[in-house]
Amino acid sequence: MTERTKGTAVVTGASSGIGAEYAVRLARRGWDLVLVARRAGRLAALADRLREETGARVETAVADLADPQDLARVAARVAAGDVALLVNNAGINGYGPFAEVDAALLTKVLDVNVVALTVLTRAAVPHMLERGRGAVVNVAFLLAFAGSLPPGPLPQRAVYAGTKGYVVTFTRTLAAELAGTPVRVQVVCPGLTATEFHLSRGEAPVPGEARVHEEGGMPAADVVTASLAALESGEVVCVPGLPDAGVVDRLAAVERALREGSGRSVAARYRRAEDPEA
Ligand SMILES: NC(=O)c1ccc[n+]([C@@H]2O[C@H](COP(=O)([O-])OP(=O)(O)OC[C@H]3O[C@@H](n4cnc5c(N)ncnc54)[C@H](OP(=O)(O)O)[C@@H]3O)[C@@H](O)[C@H]2O)c1
Repeated sequence: MTERTKGTAVVTGASSGIGAEYAVRLARRGWDLVLVARRAGRLAALADRLREETGARVETAVADLADPQDLARVAARVAAGDVALLVNNAGINGYGPFAEVDAALLTKVLDVNVVALTVLTRAAVPHMLERGRGAVVNVAFLLAFAGSLPPGPLPQRAVYAGTKGYVVTFTRTLAAELAGTPVRVQVVCPGLTATEFHLSRGEAPVPGEARVHEEGGMPAADVVTASLAALESGEVVCVPGLPDAGVVDRLAAVERALREGSGRSVAARYRRAEDPEA
C-alpha cells in the first residue's frame, strides 16, 4: 500500500474508459479521490476496489454534469479547498449530421464538454493559487485539430470537435495566464482510444458491464501514462501518440505568423471584389 500523501484528486467521467484509468493510477500513486459520473453502480464498484487495493479515501459524486444543480454540487466539492488535482475528463460526442442531430443533444455536448469543464476549473483554481499548489488536466481530442478534414472515415462531428477546440484553446490560454504561478494546467489530446466512447452519443449512460467500442484505438492506460508524465515534465499540450513533440511548437509558430501577419487594413484579396480598380 502506498503512503497517502498527495492530496485529493477529482476525476470526472470516472465510471469508464480514460477517467476510470486516471482514478486507478492516481490512487496507486497515493491520491485520495472524488469520482464523478452518472452511473452510481460503476462508481461504487470502482471506489470499493480502489479503497481495498490502495487504501485511498474515495468519495463518489453521482452527477449529470449537464444538469445545473448537479454541476453546482460538484463545483462546491471541487471548491472545498482540499483538491490539488482536477481531471476534467467527462465528455460526450453527439455525433451525426449537424442538420439532423437533436438540438437538445448538441446543447448537452456543450454543457458537458465546455460548460462543466470551465465551471469546475473556475471552482478549483482560486484554491490552488491560495494553497500554492495544484493542477488541472483537461481531456480534449486530436479531432480539435481536424477542422479542415471532411467526415468519412472520420465521424460527423462539428459540435463535438468545436468543443474540443475550445478545450485546447481555453487550456493553453489559461496555462499562459497562470505561468509563473504554482498551478499547472494541461490539455491532453488523445487520438482514437479503446473505451466505450463510440457506443453512445451521450444522451444517456451506456448500460451494462464495462466494454470497449469496436473501433479500437490506443489503450486508455497509455493515454493516462502520457498525461501523468507530461504533468511532471510541465508539457501543456500532451499528445499521447505524437513522437515529435516539436510539432506543437511549430503549430504555435504558425499561429503566431497568422496573428502577426494580419494587419489593420483589409487584405487585397477582399478589397478587389468591392473595388475592381484597387
Ligand atoms: N475514446 C476516444 O476515442 C477518445 C479519444 C480522445 C478523447 N476522448 C475523450 O476522452 C474523454 C473520456 O472518454 P472515454 O473515451 O473514456 O469514453 P467513455 O468510456 O464513454 O467515458 C466517458 C465518461 O464520461 C462520463 N459522462 C458522460 N456524460 C456525462 C454527464 N452528463 N455527466 C457526468 N459524466 C458524464 C461517463 O460516465 P456516465 O455515463 O456514467 O455518466 C464516462 O465515465 C472524453 O472527454 C472524450 O471526449 C475520447
